[in-house]
Amino acid sequence: MHLGIDLDVRDLQQTDLDALEWSGGAAHRRTLAGVVEATWRGDAEAVVAELPTGVVVAMGALDVARSTEWAWLWLLAVHPDWQRLGLGTALVRELEARAAASGLPAVRLAAEHDNPGAASLYRRLGYRQVDSVVESWPDDAGRRYVTVSSVFERRLGGADQRQGG
Ligand SMILES: CC(C)(COP(=O)(O)OP(=O)(O)OC[C@H]1O[C@@H](n2cnc3c(N)ncnc32)[C@H](O)[C@@H]1OP(=O)(O)O)[C@@H](O)C(=O)NCCC(=O)NCCS
Repeated sequence: MHLGIDLDVRDLQQTDLDALEWSGGAAHRRTLAGVVEATWRGDAEAVVAELPTGVVVAMGALDVARSTEWAWLWLLAVHPDWQRLGLGTALVRELEARAAASGLPAVRLAAEHDNPGAASLYRRLGYRQVDSVVESWPDDAGRRYVTVSSVFERRLGGADQRQGG
């Protein structure tokens, strides 16, 4: 993609983890370290968008081992200074291409009930709500954060492959 500057979309590396401090606290970065290990096993794909200066401004991940019916897209985040410029869209499209390359026919993801901006983005990209789930993950205080999320799905390779850029 081109924003007047060239952005490199490439695989997440273990050496990127410190540079992703903006995306969450210590517990979140431990999750990211686990994702890097999952990429080594071939169970996940993870990508970042990097400025020519080497600054990482966006990331997203794809679990390709959870189901044979769909890949699970998660951990999508764009640095607050770089939001609403198309980076989230570019990373979703990159991860969808990787899901298709893995032979998976659909991508699923979840958006928290109080994140209408993310839900609006996914709908624009051709996702449709298929379920609701209770999700939880560890927080930096050693507790678990619990939330209700909408699950969205997009079928790959069909008519809706052409929607939303
Ligand atoms: C959600 C997120 C990944 C989108 O990335 P992005 O680079 O800003 O997305 P894009 O520029 O490709 O697309 C922007 C679209 O997303 C939606 N959107 C994103 N943030 C929004 C907000 N705060 N309010 C309303 N719509 C929003 C809109 O549809 C917007 O389109 P518009 O600018 O034409 O109105 C980014 O805002 C982010 O990192 N947010 C914090 C973390 C998060 O919520 N991650 C998603 C978890 S499910």
